[in-house]
Amino acid sequence: MTRRIFVDSHSPALDALLEAAECLRSGGLVAFPTETVYGLGGNALDGRAVQRIFEAKGRPANDPLIVHLPSADALPMVVKTIPTIVSTLAEHFWPGPLTLILPRGDNVPLSVTAGLDTVAVRVPSHPVAQALLRVSRLAIAAPSANRFGGVSPTTAEHVLRDLEGRIEIVLDGGATPIGVESTVLDITSPIPRILRPGGVSREALEAVLGQVELVERKASREEAQASPGLLDKHYAPHHARLILLEISDPGELWKEFAHHVSQTRQKGLRAGALIADEDLPYLEARFPELPRLALGSLNDLGSIARNLYAGMRAMDEAGIDVLLVRDFGTSGIGLAIRDRLYRAASQIIRRAENGA
Ligand code: TXA
Ligand code: MG
Repeated sequence: MTRRIFVDSHSPALDALLEAAECLRSGGLVAFPTETVYGLGGNALDGRAVQRIFEAKGRPANDPLIVHLPSADALPMVVKTIPTIVSTLAEHFWPGPLTLILPRGDNVPLSVTAGLDTVAVRVPSHPVAQALLRVSRLAIAAPSANRFGGVSPTTAEHVLRDLEGRIEIVLDGGATPIGVESTVLDITSPIPRILRPGGVSREALEAVLGQVELVERKASREEAQASPGLLDKHYAPHHARLILLEISDPGELWKEFAHHVSQTRQKGLRAGALIADEDLPYLEARFPELPRLALGSLNDLGSIARNLYAGMRAMDEAGIDVLLVRDFGTSGIGLAIRDRLYRAASQIIRRAENGA
């Protein structure tokens, strides 16, 4: 049985935190909200607890975990040396959704880093995550609290769907505010490289660092091994086949959309759509009965990110066979949204700007 403990997302009660901290200290697993998604936490310096994280998630041992700390001051707990650039990055982005790849400290079990000499570290800003780190005085290893390969959880219900009975506690602090995972940044190369776009935008990193490279999703085999989160078909719904319509011209977009709706229905399958608020008038006029979720406004990609995973899960649970998703562009957090859609997609339909 997994104990679900409700906590105030701004100021969690001390007794709940003490219970969760005690559980972690004795090698147990606690899921908790961060500003990005829920994490599946265990004591990062306890090899048995780390082993249990991999088992609970069904995650292959070659996919390394992120270690969470209460502040940059705690870095010596888990890293060997601290590159000078870290203080600048920490000043701008910690606490927050930025994960840094750093030299692994000797006391971090190799199981955490999948045998690598580097360790991924982040300082989350969510008050529940912060309080848990401070009360437990632990470095907490926490991947997203979903079964391997599936969609990350943005609510405690999502966590329980995937991990009920596999973890001791979930701290339920409501929906997570950002909704997509942290940005993973490798600063070991001369030009810093984004291994996974996320909650901190490329633009924000460039404003501080100058040039930043983006490791493209079409990863080479070696890159995929360097960060297995780059692998195709990660973050995908279980049942629904996701088709991403990367078409900017509205006429072309809706022509393609209508084609896929009718093709799906001809096969006797159920189509559904994830769209923007701005698309609703069109859908109401043309496909009044089509199951759809408007994730937010095109002018507020933060709202799209916040609702994306819940939308994918809801469509899956509604028994949708083919999920049509429009593209939301790549500015700011749009880059992370597109990355996750690429990974979840079974098919991507592209049209160049000129409609060619
Ligand atoms: O927002 C987040 O980052 C959430 C919350 C819970 O903090 N965590 C999360 O963890 O998304 P996870 O395990 O689902 O994804 C961690 C990513 C993976 O793509 C993994 O391959 C990469 O970080 N990673 C971890 N350690 C690495 C390392 N030493 N070198 C390169 N990539 C690494
Ligand atoms: Mg994950």
